[in-house]
Amino acid sequence: MSLPPIGWAIIGPGRIAGRFAGSLNRSGDARLLAVASRDAGRAAAFAAANGASGAKVCSNAAEAAATPGVDAVYIASPHPMHHAAALTAIAAGRAVLCEKPMTLNASHSGELVAAARGRGTFLMEAMWTRCLPATKRIRAWLGEGRIGRPRLLTGGFGFACPPGRDRISDPALGGGSLLDVGVYPLAYAMMVFGAEPSAVTGCATLGTTGVDEQATISLAFPCGGLASLHCAVHLATDRTGRIHGERGTIAADQFWRATSARLEPVDAPAETFSEEPLTEGFDHQLAEVHRCLRAGLVESPSMPWSESLALARTTDALRRQWGLRYPGE
Ligand SMILES: NC(=O)c1ccc[n+]([C@@H]2O[C@H](COP(=O)([O-])OP(=O)(O)OC[C@H]3O[C@@H](n4cnc5c(N)ncnc54)[C@H](OP(=O)(O)O)[C@@H]3O)[C@@H](O)[C@H]2O)c1
Repeated sequence: MSLPPIGWAIIGPGRIAGRFAGSLNRSGDARLLAVASRDAGRAAAFAAANGASGAKVCSNAAEAAATPGVDAVYIASPHPMHHAAALTAIAAGRAVLCEKPMTLNASHSGELVAAARGRGTFLMEAMWTRCLPATKRIRAWLGEGRIGRPRLLTGGFGFACPPGRDRISDPALGGGSLLDVGVYPLAYAMMVFGAEPSAVTGCATLGTTGVDEQATISLAFPCGGLASLHCAVHLATDRTGRIHGERGTIAADQFWRATSARLEPVDAPAETFSEEPLTEGFDHQLAEVHRCLRAGLVESPSMPWSESLALARTTDALRRQWGLRYPGE
């Protein structure tokens, strides 16, 4: 017997929400039932553009979460707005997929996790890298010991932000490279070494608005592994993630959205993994959320609460070193 599709509400119909709506359309197992925006016309236009003209136009997260038939809420507003919207959706008993970073800081993320645990609702930070077939292949290679113990990760994510994207530099919108793209290499390092870092050090260049335009980050892990990472929002950088192990190397170009990966063991022929058929990366994340909801899980094993909290503690530690606080913190 086929199950009814999962009903979704979207909060913040901006750039990334459009991509997520595309996944909803392709999944065949989802319906977009509500869109919340500060502007009713924008919400209606977004719904229509994404094949959901009948979706309810809402002015806030509470209204969207309360829409009949909504099972899950995707939060795609700027980072500082995630906390309140997610708390509202969780209180309404809805599952939440919350864009990265889950919130601005570990204190707020802890509140979300406590609320989801208390209410027994699903909550996941949208660290979609974890759901990609290439990432799963890399984890399998690591688990099989194909490069021995991983000892050093190098990688980063820097891009030249086009003009006009206020969110990237505005402190009131959680601007800066660490929370926008730095969370990808940080989460990747925690995945590779399977733990929260035991030491965190970073250097940042703060821009005229006071947020970090670029940063270098060094992490040490309890297993002795090290990570040398960077992030930037006004500079396109090398984006290869490279895991150096005792007996070989694994490399993934644009590791956070990888569609392929290369294994180079020192004592065996090299192997290349390529995703086939190639799927829009966000589709894998949606499939994972649906799988968890159908299985009655409250967190995804691919990005569990403990890792979102560890990630937020790590960005907090870096920001403390840089003296970077957001309004209201
Ligand atoms: N997973 C990924 O690959 C990925 C990629 C990019 C971004 N993201 C994450 O997704 C989130 C949104 O990023 P984005 O680039 O899509 O942002 P965006 O387009 O700048 O903003 C998204 C929407 O949020 C609402 N919004 C903007 N400013 C607001 C404010 N001051 N108060 C309340 N709502 C506001 C707007 O919708 P209304 O005006 O219609 O309410 C806007 O369309 C961020 O947390 C970001 O880190 C993830």
